[in-house]
Amino acid sequence: MKSHPAQVVITVVIAALALGAGLIIGYLLRAPGGMGDSGVHGNLTPLELMSAADNQSVAGMFERCRKTARKDPAIKGYLLDREMEACHAASCLVDLPNTYVVYKLGSGAIDIDGKLEERAWKDVAWTEPFVDIRGEGQPEPRFETRVKLRWDDRNLYVGAYLQEYAVWANRTLHDTTIYQDNSFQVLFDTSQSNHKYKEVSINALGIVSDIMLTRPYMDDGEPLSFWESDVVRAVHIDGPVNDPSRRNRYWTVEMAIPFKQLYAGLGRTEGDVPKDREIWRANFMRTEWQTEVVGSKYLKKLDKEADFWVWQPHGVANLHLPDKWGLIQFREVAINSTTFQPDKKWVTINALLDVYRAQKAYKAVTGRYTEKKDQLHLPPYTLSKRCIRDLDIKLDWGGFRVTARPAEEFLEDGHTRTDRFVWFGEEKENFF
Ligand SMILES: *[C@@H]1O[C@H](CO)[C@@H](O)[C@H](O)[C@H]1NC(C)=O
Ligand SMILES: *[C@@H]1O[C@H](CO)[C@@H](O)[C@H](O)[C@H]1NC(C)=O
Ligand SMILES: *[C@@H]1O[C@H](CO)[C@@H](O)[C@H](O)[C@H]1NC(C)=O
Repeated sequence: MKSHPAQVVITVVIAALALGAGLIIGYLLRAPGGMGDSGVHGNLTPLELMSAADNQSVAGMFERCRKTARKDPAIKGYLLDREMEACHAASCLVDLPNTYVVYKLGSGAIDIDGKLEERAWKDVAWTEPFVDIRGEGQPEPRFETRVKLRWDDRNLYVGAYLQEYAVWANRTLHDTTIYQDNSFQVLFDTSQSNHKYKEVSINALGIVSDIMLTRPYMDDGEPLSFWESDVVRAVHIDGPVNDPSRRNRYWTVEMAIPFKQLYAGLGRTEGDVPKDREIWRANFMRTEWQTEVVGSKYLKKLDKEADFWVWQPHGVANLHLPDKWGLIQFREVAINSTTFQPDKKWVTINALLDVYRAQKAYKAVTGRYTEKKDQLHLPPYTLSKRCIRDLDIKLDWGGFRVTARPAEEFLEDGHTRTDRFVWFGEEKENFF
């Protein structure tokens, strides 16, 4: 069959358009010149390419393309993320997680009876309500949970409110699997080093399990259950426990944890308490199992996983990522007179953690670590030299060691290594 001349023309036009579109798409999708530290790649930069090519049409096409991208909700998020990254690199501002200012107690004491009725509690703000540990896009928690903190020359005080219709608890022995009950967890990394952080879990009977982690489980950490928090605590329940004949509304937890124990293993001197403005990593979690009423008892629904609701979400259901927790700051000033004041080390700490994560991601694919920064997917603020003067990566028999030199020369260098340990100054890990 002979084709009609018009058909031939249309086919040629379509072929030409497809070729043109292919070239444009190819140009847009080409491998980006690495964000590396050299800037000299032999390849032309996008800007040079643009002026070298037909200036008008490429620039115009790029502009139209950007406009289309901005209107597409699926692509817009990506553009915004990139712009945010660029903005961080230009300003050296790195996002903060949730923060909470812990105000020192004045004259009013806290009586550990489980009830948060003291003036000392009424005077200070709650944290944000807890959310699913996996972060955005996950179901809203079924019950509200919030925390308050205070401190004095001996203890950190924790007050928690847990809304609940069915208060139950089964574990009655210290240092057993409290998380198998509905329970409340507090976690503190007092040195922001990711090592030797402490976890205290409590159920509605006031039974406690307390451990120190040598380092996160993912970094082959060990839970040391011989560590004792020496927590003085009480639980108040609005109604009965383990009795489905009467519905509850909530339970509250009150804790006093001595700084002596929270600082254990970190080489702090006896009697040490936080300094004004001291910052810790911290998170609070609620483990919630679903139950049903069978006869006169609550029974755990065995086909349901536990929910993990936290103050600071991690994006994944793993509580043992201290580098993803929130930040608490100890202050000796009047209540509500200040807001959280970030540490000057914050940018350096983040750069170190970003290198740590990039190395782990690189190893997951290639089976090894690398000294080459352009092989790692690092955000631009770590490499632009505006925020971090120099990022030095060395490999040794055990893995990698990273040193980040802050742009301000008067600030101390920070370091990290394969086991997520972050330190400033001398590399020492104190044991008992
Ligand atoms: C491309 O356009 C810009 C501004 O419109 C102009 O400054 C530049 O000289 C042009 N480059 C070429 C190669 O035409
Ligand atoms: C401090 O702020 C919290 C939250 O806004 C408020 O509930 C509390 O009453 C304030 N405390 C004082 C002493 O003003
Ligand atoms: C607690 O333990 C008792 C006895 O083993 C059991 O009958 C009850 O169902 C348990 N409660 C829950 C909520 O698992």
